[in-house]
This record gives sequence, structure tokens and C-alpha cells, in this order.
Amino acid sequence: WLLPALVLILGYLLGSIPFGILLTRIGGAGDLRQIGSGNIGATNVLRTGRKGLAAATLLLDLLKGAAAVLIGAWLIDGGGPMAGAMAFIGHCYPVWLRFAGGKGVATMMGVVSALHWPAGIVFAAVWLGMLFGTRWSSVGGMSAAVSAPIAMWAFGRIDLVPVSLAMALILLWRHRENIARLAKGAEPKIGSGKG
Ligand code: G3P
Repeated sequence: WLLPALVLILGYLLGSIPFGILLTRIGGAGDLRQIGSGNIGATNVLRTGRKGLAAATLLLDLLKGAAAVLIGAWLIDGGGPMAGAMAFIGHCYPVWLRFAGGKGVATMMGVVSALHWPAGIVFAAVWLGMLFGTRWSSVGGMSAAVSAPIAMWAFGRIDLVPVSLAMALILLWRHRENIARLAKGAEPKIGSGKG
């Protein structure tokens, strides 16, 4: 039981590194919690006007999810989904931020890509398509998340449907404020100046 416990803890700790907050602070762009939506993800880093920092946040939040899956799979048989799910939970509910973390889009993309890369391609394509189509970052992320369990099923990876579905449901729950804003027509668009 020691190794599975280690995989779970390692996954959680990796996922809980808040790269958005760290990079924004190191880059001298202020306190991310006081900016825009207050979220710790790349979308909100973009609202500081620092595109490079936003891109780095996206990449690192994605890589920590992928790294957790690879390390988990390397440590124990079938450890990938376990570690990946824990990294996702660590990102959304990090102990360091009193469990008030991010919304999970980049980290889920990394986890899904490392679990089954064709599903990662679908995730990225849906995300980019909806993001550029609607200019709502949240709509891009939520659509991509919902596509993941469907893609796993379509690719015959039924074993990965439960973990993908669980992450998608948590991701939607984390976007409940965005959903409320979308319903009111008050969700800012990326690149609108307010976005
Ligand atoms: O991944 C976060 C994005 O979907 C929404 O972020 O800052 O607009 O709430 P934000």
C-alpha cells in the first residue's frame, strides 16, 4: 500500500504547484488573486497583459499533469490515471491556497494527453476551436473537458472513461461562476480588453 499512497501524494503535490501565481509574482506582474477573475490559470495571467507569462503558465500547468501520469505509470502498474487524477485535484484544490485553486483546463489537457495522446489531440482541437470560435476561454475549456470522456470511449479506452468523466465534472463545477456569467451575458471575451 506504500507505493500507491506515494503515487497519490506525489500526484497531488505536483498538481498543487500554482505556476500562475508563482510566475506572475516572479515576473513582477502583481498578485494574480487581485487581478481579473482572481483565478490562478493562464487565462487570468493573460489579463496582466504579459503574454509570455500566460503561455508559460499554460505550458507548466499542462506539463505537471502529464508528468504526474508518467511518473505514476512508471512507479506502479496502472498508476497513471491515479496520479493524473490527483494532480488535477491538486491543481483545483491545493492545500497551499486553502484549497482554493484553479479551474483545471491546462492540467486536464496534460493528464488526458499523457493517458492517451489521441484524446489529447481531440482535447486541444476542441479547446482551440471553441476558444477562437467564441473568444470565451471558459467555453473552450469546458467543451474540451466534456470531449475527453467521449474521445476515450470512441478510441476504445473504456478503462479511461471514468477518470476523464470525473475530471470533466469537477472542471464544470469549478467553472460555475463562469457558467453563471455566461447565462447573464456577462462573461468577458479574450482579447476584448476586458477579457
Ligand atoms: O481555465 C480557466 C478559464 O476557463 C476561465 O478562467 O479566469 O476567465 O475564470 P477565468
